[in-house]
Amino acid sequence: MLTSLQLQNFRNYKKASFNFDKSVIIIGPNTSGKSNLIEAIFLLSSGKSFRAERDPEMVRFGSEMGRVRGRADDIDLEVVVTVGEVGGVRSQFKRYFVNGVAKRRQDFVGNLPAVLFSPQDLEIVVGSPGLRRDFLDSVLEQTDREYRIALISYTKTLRQRNALLELVKKGLRRDDRQFEYWNKLIITNGQILTAKREDFIDFLNKAKKEVLSFKLEYDKSVISEERLSQYREAETASGITLVGPHRDDFIVYFNKGHDLRSFGSRGQQRLGVLQLKLLELEYVRARVENEPILLLDDVFSELDEDHIIHILEKVGGQQTIITTTHEEFIPARIKSKMEIIELKANN
Ligand SMILES: Nc1ncnc2c1ncn2[C@@H]1O[C@H](COP(=O)(O)OP(=O)(O)OP(=O)(O)O)[C@@H](O)[C@H]1O
Ligand SMILES: [Mg+2]
Repeated sequence: MLTSLQLQNFRNYKKASFNFDKSVIIIGPNTSGKSNLIEAIFLLSSGKSFRAERDPEMVRFGSEMGRVRGRADDIDLEVVVTVGEVGGVRSQFKRYFVNGVAKRRQDFVGNLPAVLFSPQDLEIVVGSPGLRRDFLDSVLEQTDREYRIALISYTKTLRQRNALLELVKKGLRRDDRQFEYWNKLIITNGQILTAKREDFIDFLNKAKKEVLSFKLEYDKSVISEERLSQYREAETASGITLVGPHRDDFIVYFNKGHDLRSFGSRGQQRLGVLQLKLLELEYVRARVENEPILLLDDVFSELDEDHIIHILEKVGGQQTIITTTHEEFIPARIKSKMEIIELKANN
């Protein structure tokens, strides 16, 4: 359970401090900082923002450094975000601390498992492939340390390999021995990602679905020695790595095999996403040691009461943090068990 949260120069918060002793409802008008609060908690959980394209966006306008600190049971978690420069000195964008000790991201994540529901989730179904890969990553990174390590290594290697390919494209003679090293790394880590994504998608397909029935097809971009040599010329011409999990996607089929993205009504797409997120919750719960906390950012404008109660019942007694603009949106039987925190307009 998250018992305290402190923000410093984080988004619209100059300095703020919250204490939680159970589940909470955070009520505040638009722009009062509700989603920013959820973003801060999610950052402590996953080491990532769920919406910033670049980490420095989380730092308060005009500041160099933002800080989020929280206490979960007896663990002190802290993330420091900078704009890349502090007092004129170049600095890392993000640093992680557990009980005051600096950690790498792969060792920071996992201390405060959380599952987030937000209106942006719809993008998993209707958005671009990158958002579906982000979904797979965010679930698997929470639950699997080996996945976190493979992903970090894969991303780094991909960047290096692409930089080299770019040089080849510009006329540098291709030295295959140089590529051998990067190929080996990218294949090893890429295959770990593919296998684990496949397992997760398999879980999703086999799980019981009460909200909307669907079937996922993993459209994977396999990486192997053969595939890389098959694409050798094309890579040289384009200057980028053309195969691998960074090109993965999955298709959601519903209702006798139609693609939910193209043929689902808005309502069906919402239910599909809700179903997907409920299964994520089930998956995370089964795989982490501590029960995940549940973050519901502004979902009352999107979902009806029955579905919200369905989510809350799934999570059982675990801590839940809900934001909303209007207290009236929250069904009375949910509200009675929760603490209420009010945010004022423009913190
Ligand atoms: N880096 C930043 N520095 C300062 N303010 C920021 C920064 N990023 C966002 N904000 C501001 O923080 C305010 C609160 O944003 P937030 O998304 O938390 O609002 P909200 O309460 O969730 O509103 P809504 O009900 O509309 O979703 C906004 O006015 C936004 O412009
Ligand atoms: Mg919001």
